[in-house]
Amino acid sequence: MASAVVAQDLFKVYPGSHSRTPALDGLSLTVPTGGVYGLIGRNGAGKTTFVRIAATQLALTSGSLSVLGHDVAREERKIRERIACVPQESRPLYFLTVEEVVYYYLKMRGLPSVEARRRTREGLEELSLGEYRRRLVSQLSGGLRRRAMCAMVLASDAEMLFLDEPTTGLDPIARREVWAAIRRASREQRTILLTTHYLDEAEALSQRLVLIERGRRILEGTPGELRGRVRYPYRVALQEGVAPEELEPYGRVATVEGGQTLVFAREREARELARWALERNLRVSMGPVSLEDIFLDVVGRSIDEDTPAEDAEPGHDEAKA
Ligand SMILES: Nc1ncnc2c1ncn2[C@@H]1O[C@H](COP(=O)(O)OP(=O)(O)OP(=O)(O)O)[C@@H](O)[C@H]1O
Ligand SMILES: [Mg+2]
Repeated sequence: MASAVVAQDLFKVYPGSHSRTPALDGLSLTVPTGGVYGLIGRNGAGKTTFVRIAATQLALTSGSLSVLGHDVAREERKIRERIACVPQESRPLYFLTVEEVVYYYLKMRGLPSVEARRRTREGLEELSLGEYRRRLVSQLSGGLRRRAMCAMVLASDAEMLFLDEPTTGLDPIARREVWAAIRRASREQRTILLTTHYLDEAEALSQRLVLIERGRRILEGTPGELRGRVRYPYRVALQEGVAPEELEPYGRVATVEGGQTLVFAREREARELARWALERNLRVSMGPVSLEDIFLDVVGRSIDEDTPAEDAEPGHDEAKA
């Protein structure tokens, strides 16, 4: 099946921008059809810029980008008919009720009334908004408005969904309801492009992930591939302060806030270190590196070096974007 999104050498310079670095600086990526593709990166990395360009809300400076086989520069209408978008920080129209915003959105997308009504009911239930359905959006809390926005888009029949930080501001239960709705849309063979700063969310939902920094792709793969590329795939956390010199033989030592010491290690050294710590009655935990560890390390180094990182730590192995 053809790819859902093919981006080649994208550049974006905002008009009037005095920034030295373009918002997108030669970004290329391919989003496969079906499933969740996670887009992660620091504030200002270019995630929203990319989403807005792909969702035909913003023009490119140069490069080529096709969405569902249509060129963003020439066929934006065709793309708009087939996509739905939760923009960053967006809220639904405030003078309608929750039920109305979802229903009218689906009607505007061309769904027949009966189907729009059914999808509205199911979409509101899915995100536990049933009890608020007759409430005006203007009277809802911020998180509930965001949930209503997610309900509109997730209840749609669009083939491709762009979700730009959909769960920011949501409580932990609502967040998981949105996850369940995203998984349901993914099972329906739809393509979801998700940006998030919650790396547990990115890891839990995405079949593939791309990490961007300063408008460039610096790492891409399945969560397992990203983990498999690092030299030190285990993290050992020691609660009490232990002299770093004692730990250095086991792997790479990082001290984190609150006196906790992390050691990134290979499997054998990680086990040895955990045993060593337990014999001394130190509180210790051990597990595979998280996406957050990889993120902090790769992005951290790319900032230090002032050049994009090309390999994933913990550990410098052959990780290439
Ligand atoms: N309308 C705009 N005009 C000028 N510069 C902009 C505009 N929108 C974004 N930028 C700049 O483009 C760069 C990328 O911003 P973008 O919003 O795409 O980042 P992001 O990865 O979505 O960040 P965040 O995680 O904070 O949402 C930043 O340097 C930002 O300051
Ligand atoms: Mg953004």
